[in-house]
Amino acid sequence: MLSIDDLLEITEEIKVSTQKFMKEDLNFGEYVHEGKDDTKSIDLFAEKALDKALERRGLSAKIISEEFGERVIGDDPEFLLVFDPVDGTTNAVRGISFYSTSLAYSDKIDDVRVNDLSMGIVASFLDHTYHAVKGKGAFIDGKKLNYKNYGDKILISVHAYELPPFSREDLEKRIILRTLGSIALELCLVATGGLDIVLDTRNKLCVYDIAAGQLVLRESGGYLIGLDGKDINDLVTAEGLSIIASSDKEFINNYRDECK
Ligand code: IPD
Ligand code: CA
Repeated sequence: MLSIDDLLEITEEIKVSTQKFMKEDLNFGEYVHEGKDDTKSIDLFAEKALDKALERRGLSAKIISEEFGERVIGDDPEFLLVFDPVDGTTNAVRGISFYSTSLAYSDKIDDVRVNDLSMGIVASFLDHTYHAVKGKGAFIDGKKLNYKNYGDKILISVHAYELPPFSREDLEKRIILRTLGSIALELCLVATGGLDIVLDTRNKLCVYDIAAGQLVLRESGGYLIGLDGKDINDLVTAEGLSIIASSDKEFINNYRDECK
């Protein structure tokens, strides 16, 4: 078993070593011939940084991650990690300061679902670290995370092939649209109130994209549902997800009613 402090220390190691790598190797945005077809050098470095952090500590774990898929480190896995080494690689490569590393933990190793994840950390490479422990709340830079209602226009991050039919009046008076590019961080921003809604309708997300961020959001009192209005609780290996995230109970309940 790992403690949240162990997990925070491991995440910090991944973050710091990857930042150093980006400074030293200016080709960090190049494609590499390892991992997936679209794996870039920075993704590979961060992916391997987790293995090194576990090996240094003599830990054995099952890992489900973006670049290397499913694998086991060591001989006798004691826990499971769901890992997106870099969430927002395009931002990182293009010099947009909004990307993160995302690590979630479960004591259970087989047939693990999102709701089995008991700890999650989303660390911005250039800003805050968010973490959550199931039943114990969500935290930002180690302090209790407090949701703030800005009481302003509705700020929505939309990832879609076709934009939802917002009227011109909505866009002028009520809604501001963004597409920020690191879904893990965006879920944490819904937790703080920085974003009001995250909407991804592309059936493209994988659980490793949202594993840690959803725990931060839910532990802060927010919601993560699918387009069918149901709580997201897929197997951690699942792909092809669409999501709606919000901290507004009324909005979520209204949406759920419309789905009936
Ligand atoms: C991407 C980010 C982005 C989302 C993409 C993801 P990646 O993650 O989460 O916000 O729109 O669909 O692929 O590829 O940088 O880990
Ligand atoms: Ca990634």
